[in-house]
Amino acid sequence: MILAIASAIFNPKFLVTIVLLEFVAAAQSSGSVPVGASITATDNAPSWPSSSRDFAFGFHQLKDKDHFLLSIWYDKIPETTIVWYANGDNPAPRGSKVELTTDLGLVLTDPQGNQIWNSGIKPGAVSSGVMNDTGNFVLQNSNSDRLWESFDHPSDTLLPTQIMEIEGVLSSRRSETNFSLGRFQFRFDAGALVLNSINLPTGFAYDSYYRTPSDDSDSSNSGYRLIFNESGYMYMSRRNGQRFSLTDRAVPTADFYHRATLNFDGVFTQYFYPKTSGSNRSWSSVWSKPDNICVDIGGGLGSGACGYNSICSLNDDKRPDCNCPKNFSLLDENDRYGSCIPDFELSCKDRLNSTEDQYDFQELINIDWPTSDYERSKPSDEDTCRKSCLNDCLCAVAIFRDGCWKKKLPLSNGRFDSRMNGKALIKFPKGYVPWERPPLQLPEEKKNRDVKFITGSVLLGSSVFVNFVFVGAFCLTSSFIYRKKTKKIEEGRDAVETNLRCFTYEELAAATNDFKDELGRGGFGAVYKGTIPVGSTNVVAVKKLNKMVQDGEKEFKTEVRVIGQIHHKNLVRLLGYCDEGQNRLLVNTPITAKVDVYSFGVMLLEIICCRRSVDLEIGEKAVLTDWAYDCYANGTLDALLEDDMEAMNDISTVEKLLKVAFWCIHEEPSRRPIMRKVTQMLEGVVEVLAPPNPFPFSTISNDL
Ligand SMILES: *[C@@H]1O[C@H](CO)[C@@H](O)[C@H](O)[C@H]1NC(C)=O
Ligand SMILES: *[C@@H]1O[C@H](CO)[C@@H](O)[C@H](O)[C@H]1NC(C)=O
Ligand SMILES: *[C@@H]1O[C@H](CO)[C@@H](O)[C@H](O)[C@H]1NC(C)=O
Ligand SMILES: *[C@@H]1O[C@H](CO)[C@@H](O)[C@H](O)[C@H]1NC(C)=O
Ligand SMILES: *[C@@H]1O[C@H](CO)[C@@H](O)[C@H](O)[C@H]1NC(C)=O
Ligand SMILES: *[C@@H]1O[C@H](CO)[C@@H](O)[C@H](O)[C@H]1NC(C)=O
Repeated sequence: MILAIASAIFNPKFLVTIVLLEFVAAAQSSGSVPVGASITATDNAPSWPSSSRDFAFGFHQLKDKDHFLLSIWYDKIPETTIVWYANGDNPAPRGSKVELTTDLGLVLTDPQGNQIWNSGIKPGAVSSGVMNDTGNFVLQNSNSDRLWESFDHPSDTLLPTQIMEIEGVLSSRRSETNFSLGRFQFRFDAGALVLNSINLPTGFAYDSYYRTPSDDSDSSNSGYRLIFNESGYMYMSRRNGQRFSLTDRAVPTADFYHRATLNFDGVFTQYFYPKTSGSNRSWSSVWSKPDNICVDIGGGLGSGACGYNSICSLNDDKRPDCNCPKNFSLLDENDRYGSCIPDFELSCKDRLNSTEDQYDFQELINIDWPTSDYERSKPSDEDTCRKSCLNDCLCAVAIFRDGCWKKKLPLSNGRFDSRMNGKALIKFPKGYVPWERPPLQLPEEKKNRDVKFITGSVLLGSSVFVNFVFVGAFCLTSSFIYRKKTKKIEEGRDAVETNLRCFTYEELAAATNDFKDELGRGGFGAVYKGTIPVGSTNVVAVKKLNKMVQDGEKEFKTEVRVIGQIHHKNLVRLLGYCDEGQNRLLVNTPITAKVDVYSFGVMLLEIICCRRSVDLEIGEKAVLTDWAYDCYANGTLDALLEDDMEAMNDISTVEKLLKVAFWCIHEEPSRRPIMRKVTQMLEGVVEVLAPPNPFPFSTISNDL
């Protein structure tokens, strides 16, 4: 059962269970983190939120689910938006731990105890960490001097109030979901801000494709500082006091979140995102540089905005799209922005035969690879240009414009440019039959462009209600136990009656006024207020499951059915569901219950002693808890569990859950742990100490 419970808690398949049992818990956070605090990288790992909860620090689960990125993200919005990360090149395996230490600051270690990363600090001793509401994670000593801050070590993103000094660098990630070092940089270079591509993995910087204008005649005019001020304006300060402004319009920071990110495709963009919830939110661009990366990245070394032999065209977001010429294929099928290779071979082996008969051209209008020339001629017409390339076994492409350029492979800086006024002639062997290739599958991440981030850390990061995760984890545990019980009860019954209503999507859209009134958001989707008569209620909370939950959850119906049987006064209750392909929704009773540590403990206990607690009156419940404590204290848990063999086989987990419960229901409120501690205990992050007798003042008889 340990394994079963653990896997139940951490298996996304059971998210639906959590969905149902969500609470609105009123936990407060100061954003402060004490030395010694730690987080372990697991599916539902807690995070350290800022006091406003706009940002959180913790582990972001990568797509493979078994590796984690230590990061800071916008925590109140559904799109996973990572604004800082530590170990992009060294993803942390499951079970890794980040701990706040006095001497090294933040230390990330793998499960074997090997250090993956540490923040390091200025000389001194860390006394606490603060996840600031600005998105800056700050380590300070006891005098509140700053010994380290994430703002001084940016990854690919700057936030309002952040400053970049000379020598500062942003590096792009490899792709939207791969945080390894990418091909582009934004940096302060000799008094100007530049964008350039780099050689991987060495980081050698190639020519820039964007540079802030400077006045070389006047050195006092050079820039020395990039400021992203709290009103959402980004500008470079010059030594003569002037400003060079990148932001050209006002988007108020009171109403919008901001970030400026060097995208993985080399475009540097300032984005904004509405703070108030609406049905159609996304990151939109305030400005971006360069204006046309396909054309601006023109010269020098490197493949350009796209990979070698690829063709770049600018889309409506001013971001590059990369495409291989026909009869060329991606070198790495999962990297649409990578290099292309010809499906055929251009060979000089047959040079004694007339190659004119063996090859032909594919024509591409207004496409050029401006940098791969090896010869230029001045023919009178296109035909001469074609012949000259056909008869040259080294020629891969001819460009005919106001002249004829012969090009060799690999081609760099390929781009579509409507002003080119010419054509590319790509040589391929006549009668060439392409190899059988599996159809090209665009990876998911490429289909969702930029702003629609993959929701990787669904549970980790994006929950509005911090407590819900662990309440969820707990309830999951309990529902697991419940399920076991209900299964037993069900034995012999053919059809399971759940009284759950199956809604159509239209019905729910109508009931929620097209999902207008958003009540809140969890990692798995948003909850909307709806009006529709179901059972004894008219008002419902409709939860729209997001895609990740849907994908991870095959047995939606089974789960729904099982959950539908759990009734508890403190739980949000499932009334019905909708299951129409992409649209999966749960209809719950309105979210009213607030969970406090005490009722949490009581619930936990009731669930462990499930069968015995059924239909007990209040007084009897007190007796039950009392008796449960006796069983625990006397080591006679088997009495508590009756003949539940599965639970008995995993007595240590039951004991742990019991201990947590006893801490929670202690008669003296001051001795009860805070909710955060409870989660940590349930998650195994902190040890569960032996609980004191929860009823030191109580006179309830110990005899049953
Ligand atoms: C958090 O940010 C605010 C605004 O920049 C600043 O005034 C405050 O000192 C910061 N707190 C810490 C602990 O760094
Ligand atoms: C990220 O990209 C790098 C370079 O292409 C690759 O080596 C690495 O395996 C990728 N990481 C993940 C998690 O896909
Ligand atoms: C930020 O910069 C803009 C433009 O330079 C300026 O109008 C605004 O007052 C600045 N805001 C703050 C808080 O300094
Ligand atoms: C949602 O946003 C998209 C793109 O920004 C827009 O095309 C669409 O009309 C919007 N829909 C609504 C209902 O606002
Ligand atoms: C030239 O082409 C002919 C037929 O196309 C072939 O038989 C011959 O081997 C080729 N010669 C060389 C040197 O490749
Ligand atoms: C690509 O190869 C196929 C198969 O030989 C051929 O039919 C097609 O014309 C080629 N495409 C172009 C654009 O030449």
